[in-house]
Amino acid sequence: MPDSEPRRATLTSDYQRDWPKYFDAVSSSPPRDTCLRALAALTQQGNAPIASQTRKLHAIDIACGEGRDTRAILAADPRWHVFATDSSHEGLQRLSRSLSAADAARVTLTQATMEELSALVPTPHSADLINASFALPFCHPDHFPRLWKWIGETLIPGGVFAGQLFGDRDEWASVRPQSHFSRRQVLGLLDGYEIVFLDEVEKDGDDAMGGLKHHHVFHVVVRKL
Ligand SMILES: C[S@@+](CC[C@H](N)C(=O)[O-])C[C@H]1O[C@@H](n2cnc3c(N)ncnc32)[C@H](O)[C@@H]1O
Repeated sequence: MPDSEPRRATLTSDYQRDWPKYFDAVSSSPPRDTCLRALAALTQQGNAPIASQTRKLHAIDIACGEGRDTRAILAADPRWHVFATDSSHEGLQRLSRSLSAADAARVTLTQATMEELSALVPTPHSADLINASFALPFCHPDHFPRLWKWIGETLIPGGVFAGQLFGDRDEWASVRPQSHFSRRQVLGLLDGYEIVFLDEVEKDGDDAMGGLKHHHVFHVVVRKL
């Protein structure tokens, strides 16, 4: 195979990737569309409680990586404070290095797995925004129900969740089928939320590192009822 030819991405059976290599590949990428839509939904809604607040706004960025969305949340409004977590020390270091002193004062960086988040942040109704861009599929399936329940409990009513779920026709479903959902299952997970944006995308294309992949992804922005 010629060097220039895209190669199929490989995943181990435990869904691990070379995250520093991924961080290099996305280092100059813009924030995720779902994160921007969530910010717009929170700050531009006519009579919503959050838009008119003068208090601090609290966001949690789950599996923030090297911080593309955390930086966008901070830039969106000086009221935002972000609890940014990732299991990768390298990702958090890159995020830390990218912040001005003023922005760094509005961020708490915590190295943690998604699987342990519910124990780490036990406060219900404490987040205006929970962002999980291309993150939840990497939660171990045994822990996903608890993580999803915690997200619902941690958002304030009117708070917004943004992120991705992988569909059951995604190529990686063969590696870890329980981390992939049918449309019906996704709609079941979104019970108790108002759907702000739901886009189901199925296509063949590149992954972030130039490998070929069949993608089946649900892009989700929802507001807690
Ligand atoms: C596809 S990247 C997404 C990063 C970032 N949210 C973005 O959109 O660019 C997945 C991220 O999940 C993190 N990750 C993988 N497994 C994890 C786990 N079990 N707990 C917490 N973070 C995890 C990786 O370190 C990586 O930063």
